[in-house]
Amino acid sequence: MIDLHSHLLFGVDDGAATLEESLALARRAVEDGIHTCVLTPHIHPGRYANVRSGLVQQVTHFQNELDHQGIPLKVRLGGEVRLSVESLELLLEEEIPFLGTVDGYRVMLLEFPHQMIPVGSQQFIEKLLQFKVRPLIAHPERNKAIMAQPEKLGLFINLGCWAQLTAGSIAGRFGDAAYETAVTLLEREWVHVIATDAHNLEHRPPVLSEGVRAAAEVVGAARAQQMVVDWPAKIIGA
Ligand SMILES: [Fe+2]
Repeated sequence: MIDLHSHLLFGVDDGAATLEESLALARRAVEDGIHTCVLTPHIHPGRYANVRSGLVQQVTHFQNELDHQGIPLKVRLGGEVRLSVESLELLLEEEIPFLGTVDGYRVMLLEFPHQMIPVGSQQFIEKLLQFKVRPLIAHPERNKAIMAQPEKLGLFINLGCWAQLTAGSIAGRFGDAAYETAVTLLEREWVHVIATDAHNLEHRPPVLSEGVRAAAEVVGAARAQQMVVDWPAKIIGA
């Protein structure tokens, strides 16, 4: 399996704090059957000052450490980009780490604030699409506005966005509302990818399998597998 959304890279955001933590998370991911992890540090101007050029070397260093320790995990650079005007500026400066390119569109993991969908989101997304950037919306099932009205995600799907569920949500780790929203989004066929959004071993581990099992009960085993194998592979060009 490929994990398209993770905070395993140490010292860059609210995920792993040290190399040791990163390695422990990597071992857990491998145990779960993950062979490739896209590292998606928060790209959130004003909160986390991460940019593509500054992260590249850190990912290479982490890969070297994994290889040195004999942990069979491939890591790649991506980023979880906060919806903000400043993110558009980073796009123009070529400082956004994309997940990959599909059919001429660079795929960007895009995060809304948890509490709402900001005014102007539609225009922001239309602008991204004009720049040939396709947003993969991170964990919509945890957004309060979408929890209250799941059809609000439909607007963005119709514009051309894809959506990523967090495995822990469909496995029930984030409560009933996130679980029920996740089921609804799966039933409406709005989900392309399931990923871990791993931050730590205790509460947000790098585990996909439980989410895949739970999703399989909604969409069947074959489609659930596609969300952690085929679609992620297509997006990262593996
Ligand atoms: Fe995340």
